[in-house]
Amino acid sequence: MLHPLTPVLDVALGNQFGIPALNGNNLEQVTAIMEAARKTDSPAIIQLSRGARKYAGDWALRALMFAAADQYPEVPLVVHLDHGNEPEVCRSAVANGFTSVMMDGSLLPDGKTPSDFWYNVAVTRHVVEIAHAKGVSVEGEIGCLGHLITGTGEKEEEQGAEGKLTRRQLLTDPDEAAEFVKLTGVDALAVAIGTSHGAYKFTEPPDADVLAIEHLAKIRAKVPPTMHLVMHGSSSLPQELRDVINQFGGKLKPAWGVPLEAIQRAIRIGGVTKINVDTDNRLAITAAIRRFLVEQPDKFDLRDYWRPARAAMQEVCEKRMVAFGSAGQGPKVREKLGGYGQKS
Ligand code: G3H
Ligand code: 13P
Ligand code: ZN
Repeated sequence: MLHPLTPVLDVALGNQFGIPALNGNNLEQVTAIMEAARKTDSPAIIQLSRGARKYAGDWALRALMFAAADQYPEVPLVVHLDHGNEPEVCRSAVANGFTSVMMDGSLLPDGKTPSDFWYNVAVTRHVVEIAHAKGVSVEGEIGCLGHLITGTGEKEEEQGAEGKLTRRQLLTDPDEAAEFVKLTGVDALAVAIGTSHGAYKFTEPPDADVLAIEHLAKIRAKVPPTMHLVMHGSSSLPQELRDVINQFGGKLKPAWGVPLEAIQRAIRIGGVTKINVDTDNRLAITAAIRRFLVEQPDKFDLRDYWRPARAAMQEVCEKRMVAFGSAGQGPKVREKLGGYGQKS
């Protein structure tokens, strides 16, 4: 059974823990997340991006998510659309059985151009109407991810602001956040506090000037107490994984991510409940595959290198579940969910 995001995050908010929302693109990543959730007795939030849907196809992802729910019945599972860029993308996700969708109206449908407040309100409210009619939760976003000092947005393949952004765009305004929540009826709100997607977030260990964790308390004070706050771009970019990648032929430039302690503080002072992590798992998989291929050049069976890669991702997922506090929370979440949810 798949569950909407809201009741799962309600338990997190009520018990002061966070849940890692982990991106998946294939069987190996979905298995890694589900095994980690089972082992730590954590709820699981699997995020599927537009890129993932293009890569694997909705037919495969749909089969995979319902199969995962059947195979791991004890794991409270949410399947969430990451960064929907227009209502149609959210509508098709709902039609395919996703139990939560993100309408990222902070950018126009090109996924690159910052939008204005009223455009964001209009598209997000529209998605709330479509999704809530089917019992599906909705995450919106106010503010644009990007570096607070350089003003550069983060541009990944599918999603990310282009060009220079102002500090007003880069740091979510608490009053605007409160107004946005009131006008749209979203269940969860992604906010901008200096993080960005991908493997190049900060050029040195982040301080309060570039990672505004304390700002979350100001946003928290203005939005309704039951509102869920979401942190995107929350990979920690572990140095040991970057080292392995570079040791075995990779060419990653130096960079720092979001320290786990900063995320723990965000959970404590900001009541952040959903924390998006993708890049750390990509690094873990790439490191394991690079190492294997260099150390065992005679091997060519893909299962030989996907096995350690999957295990490496599982280890990262478990660590995040433990660090954010969702490990061991299965009983409380199962109690809250009772019998409801969405069956294949
Ligand atoms: O928000 C970005 C996520 O890391 C997903 O990335 O769009 O390349 O699948 P993707
Ligand atoms: P990272 O690139 O830091 O893992 O962020 C992922 C994310 O925010 C997905 O929405
Ligand atoms: Zn994101």
